[in-house]
Amino acid sequence: MKKNRSSAAERAADVVDTARRDCPVLELEDLSVEYHSGESVVRAVNHISFSLERGRTIGLVGETGAGKTSTALAIMRLLPDRISAVPNGQVRIYGGDVLALPEGRMKLLRGEIISMIFQDPMTALNPIMTVGDQILEALRNHNPEGLSKQELNARVDAALELVGIPASRKNEYPLQFSGGMKQRVVIAIALACRPDILIADEPTTALDVTIQAQVLALIDELKQKLGMSMIMISHDLGVIVRTCDDVAIMYAGEIIEYGSVEQIYSGDKHHPYTVGLFGAIPGLSGETRRLSPIDGLMPDPTDLPQGCKFSPRCPFCTDRCRESEPQDAFVAAGHRIKCHLFGGESRE
Ligand SMILES: Nc1ncnc2c1ncn2[C@@H]1O[C@H](COP(=O)(O)OP(=O)(O)OP(=O)(O)O)[C@@H](O)[C@H]1O
Ligand SMILES: [Mg+2]
Repeated sequence: MKKNRSSAAERAADVVDTARRDCPVLELEDLSVEYHSGESVVRAVNHISFSLERGRTIGLVGETGAGKTSTALAIMRLLPDRISAVPNGQVRIYGGDVLALPEGRMKLLRGEIISMIFQDPMTALNPIMTVGDQILEALRNHNPEGLSKQELNARVDAALELVGIPASRKNEYPLQFSGGMKQRVVIAIALACRPDILIADEPTTALDVTIQAQVLALIDELKQKLGMSMIMISHDLGVIVRTCDDVAIMYAGEIIEYGSVEQIYSGDKHHPYTVGLFGAIPGLSGETRRLSPIDGLMPDPTDLPQGCKFSPRCPFCTDRCRESEPQDAFVAAGHRIKCHLFGGESRE
């Protein structure tokens, strides 16, 4: 069942001419996202960069409005038309720039190479279509192999069985499934074409705690089985510690701290925002806990502060923080913090 990794890169190369097998699966470089409404511009994502290596999982964490979903939609090229823009940066899959791809080619990448579980699973399903037909539709949209009807039906059965739903239930409607089972269907749709990269946007937030654990275990099992690389978006620090290798902490559209799970959860150097977010750094025990509330609000994304975007809420704020924007400073290999406390160069 596990796909041959080189063939995945080769399939990507069929779509993105410059894709190469020896490149990271997914790279973001200096990526920004804006939404335009009338005269105002919402700066939802601001100059973020990271690199996802094969088989690994990166967690995106941050308060509501931090820019997590916008980042995911930019990668998928699913930002709403007309009102959004990517003013700078690159998204590369196997080294090939996907932002410049014509939409027709991007459609081929979506589903087969990269797929997404959307934030609200309950509305991701069509209530008047059987679950089998919804999986079939996902397969048909990306059917480069030109499979016959019979082969497609066999794939629908396999997709349901992959997520632990008997294929005999394929003619049922979403209404006939519990919340946890619906989420399994959503996962089956996302994985129907066996993508190499899965973006899971809050995949368990809408579920009961016990069902959450089952769905997370399922995602983890499928990740191993299919050899996928992942981006996991969650408010839940317990989910992140259990599923991720690396963590990006987002604030006002920026990655203000990035490091391995060990560095973020048990290291001794942290951005003041990370410290606030974690309450106290919870350690690697993996207990489920939500982000801690921090006094104050995230800045208005249509009117971001001039210097460090966290400065209005930061207990360590100085004039320098208000005036100039810090750059990333590496405090250990792979562990970067965007804060003047750690000597990040200023960007005036
Ligand atoms: N379609 C849109 N039009 C205008 N502004 C938008 C749109 N979608 C998102 N935004 C704004 O962009 C910013 C980032 O939103 P985004 O949904 O990416 O955050 P998030 O981190 O996913 O939040 P949450 O945890 O609530 O899902 C917010 O200020 C949000 O209001
Ligand atoms: Mg979101």
